[in-house]
Amino acid sequence: MSEQKPIPQHVAIIMDGNGRWAEQRGKERYEGHIAGVESVRRVLRRAAKWGVKYLTVYAFSTENWGRPAEEVNALMELFCKSVVNETPALIEEGVRLRVIGERSRFSQKVRHYLEEAERKTEEGHCITLVLALNYSSRDEIRRAVRHLAVRVAEGELQPEAITEETISRSLDTAFMPDPDLVIRTSGECRLSNFLLWQSSYAELWFPEVLWPDFTEEDFDRAIEVYRHRDRRFGLVK
Ligand code: FPP
Repeated sequence: MSEQKPIPQHVAIIMDGNGRWAEQRGKERYEGHIAGVESVRRVLRRAAKWGVKYLTVYAFSTENWGRPAEEVNALMELFCKSVVNETPALIEEGVRLRVIGERSRFSQKVRHYLEEAERKTEEGHCITLVLALNYSSRDEIRRAVRHLAVRVAEGELQPEAITEETISRSLDTAFMPDPDLVIRTSGECRLSNFLLWQSSYAELWFPEVLWPDFTEEDFDRAIEVYRHRDRRFGLVK
């Protein structure tokens, strides 16, 4: 792993292709999601080795509630099982787990397991794994706008005092820097309501590989791709 060029501090991933991966193998869709958790495990370790500080994964969008109940239920079970089973390893490896998205729609059980994993891993300083759950950018922005509107109505905030910084600080992602690199697997080239505000200057990469097949080498490739990009942030060299 060469050190000459900066590595991304924050990598965000749209983990796409689990269903296709399963279908190609004659398996049920949820088996693709189970295989997808393995990829999260692999990529998290690799990202930590590179010195990436935040890894955000899009695990369940606000739109995903519209999938068949069987798949939604299997995903809920998988979230609970994965966070419970993985927590000891996360603590051991200095990983902090955090969740973004609107939690009130989850069952008491799911919320309990997520909160417990967040609390147990809060000392982790090596890398933060951020699960985007019941998340979408438009919903996040809607919630932030409502929150700011209440503060204005209560006379706590002047409308002129609302800056880009105020908005960023009102989003679920306020605790971390914007993503430097956004990856979407499976060859689809769109952002699907993921970190839209935060990705204004992110580099985007769309490999063909399906998420369950995404390897450590694919992550290394992502870092190399990022390092060859010329980031100008709207300025000139
Ligand atoms: C998109 O693939 C994937 C999802 C909607 C779910 C991803 C969730 C996981 C991998 C579980 C992660 C859990 C933890 C706790 C880290 P798709 O089903 O849309 O695939 P397709 O486009 O091929 O149908």
